[in-house]
This record gives sequence, C-alpha cells and structure tokens, in this order.
Amino acid sequence: MSTGRVTQTGPLSPPLKWAGGKRWLVPYLLPLWEPHRHRRLVEPFCGGLAVALGLMPERALLNDVNPHLINFYRWLQRGLIITLEMRYDKEMYYAYRDRFNALIREGKEQTREAAELFYYLNRTGYNGLCRFNRKGEFNVPFGRYKRVTYRHDWTAYATPLARWEFTVMDFEALPIDEEDFIYADPPYDVEFRDYSAGGFSWEDQVRLAEWLAQHPGPVVASNQATPRIVRLYTSLGFTLRYLEAPRRISSNGDRTPAREILALKHVT
Ligand SMILES: C[S@@+](CC[C@H](N)C(=O)[O-])C[C@H]1O[C@@H](n2cnc3c(N)ncnc32)[C@H](O)[C@@H]1O
Repeated sequence: MSTGRVTQTGPLSPPLKWAGGKRWLVPYLLPLWEPHRHRRLVEPFCGGLAVALGLMPERALLNDVNPHLINFYRWLQRGLIITLEMRYDKEMYYAYRDRFNALIREGKEQTREAAELFYYLNRTGYNGLCRFNRKGEFNVPFGRYKRVTYRHDWTAYATPLARWEFTVMDFEALPIDEEDFIYADPPYDVEFRDYSAGGFSWEDQVRLAEWLAQHPGPVVASNQATPRIVRLYTSLGFTLRYLEAPRRISSNGDRTPAREILALKHVT
C-alpha cells in the first residue's frame, strides 16, 4: 500500500548537470576504492559529485573552486526543501538570473536563496553551463529543452552528505593526510592550447601531477589521454590505464569517443 511518501531507493543520482561528470567511471573506480574503504576519500575537483555518490565513502573531503556549487551542497547537507517556484519559462529564467547576480553583488551568495536559484539556473540554463563574465555575473542564456523537471525535496541527500566535508579552494591548499585516498578529476587537458575551459592551464596540469606524485597514500587521477598528459604521468612514476569515454557530441559534430587515462599510484 502506498503511503504517499516519496522514499529514496537505490543510489542517489548526481544532483546537478555538470560538465565532465564521471558517473560512467564509477564501475572502474569501485574495485580500486574497495580495498581502501576505511580511508578518507579526497576529491580536489568534486564537480557534480558523481564519484562520491557512486563510491559512498564513510569519510570524505570534497573540494571545488566553484563557491556556488559548494554552497548548494552545504544546503543539501542541512536537508534542503526548495520553496522557490520553478517553471521552464524564459521570463522566469532571466528574472532569476538577475536575482542570483544581485545576491552575488550584495555578498549573499551563501544564502539558501542563492542555493535554490543556483539549482534552478543549472537545470534551466543552456547545457547546464556555469559561466561568469568579467564582472563576475552569471551569464548563461536560457536553455532549449522539450521539458524540464525540477526536484524540490532534497532531504534524501542530507544523511550521506552530512558525513562529508566540503571546501572551496585551489587543490594545492587542501589539508591532506598521508592516509587519504585521492581521486583527482581536473578539467581536461586540451591539446595545442595553454588554457582549457575552466581556466585550468597546462602549468596547472603539471602542478597537479607533481602534487599528486608526492602523496604517500593511494592516488587515482583521470584525464584526457593527450600525449603530453601520458608523458607527464609516466615520467612521475604513475601506472596508466586507458579507457574509452562515452561518446560526446562536440561542437564540430565529431562523435569519436575520447580516449581517457586513469593514472594510478599506490593502488592495486
Ligand atoms: C571535470 S570537473 C569534475 C567532475 C566530477 N568528477 C564529476 O563527476 O562531476 C573539474 C572541476 O574542477 C574544478 N576546478 C577547476 N580548477 C580548479 C582548481 N584550481 N582547484 C580546485 N577545483 C578546480 C571545476 O570547477 C570543475 O568542477
């Protein structure tokens, strides 16, 4: 008999649309993680949270430089029920985008209202992008969808997320323990360019690989298998595994699957 209550059965899905989501990688990561389950999971680039929700660690330190993303997760920890009216409507979208930018200007980006608006903008904006102009204003246009569904009740996320710590900083500033299991999923290296979407330069890729290499505990890193990424991780003593990422349709219509690597250290 139905009680009329919606209860969560099965794994929790990533709450947002996020570029580079690694839900597809979870089956590959699980066997690497299982022997280390007693450790704390550290994700310096937690993004859409697909990996943490897939591995479900007891203890975790989850970090991202995007403060709006982390603010949303901190409200999920408190058992968020969204009260904002949400409709797939262009006028509503631009009005909410203006309101979100006003909150940022007023230094109120950590409020519950900002978290609710961030969710709405993520669902409704173009491709779930999160982009800001030079003035620091969120400037993603209205997205084209057949229909959009919105989730109001996020209380199912409160219990697992309450056990995890969320931070906003550059990865190198993270307070790491020797025993930690690190899974690092930085923005992809884009060949023939010194910068990539998200402002992560080649120097940042090198800085990350060197930072990971000096960690005495287990490390798993994923990236696009560009020749220079392969050279970088190999030269630092990582073991490499090659994977085919799911097909993505790029802006030039190229449907060839991206080749990815998993770089492993102190993991069997
Ligand atoms: C490929 S995404 C991670 C995706 C995530 N694994 C998932 O499954 O959704 C990379 C993330 O790195 C974050 N980022 C970019 N530069 C960073 C930095 N210097 N330190 C920490 N995080 C950074 C971005 O905000 C983005 O969310």
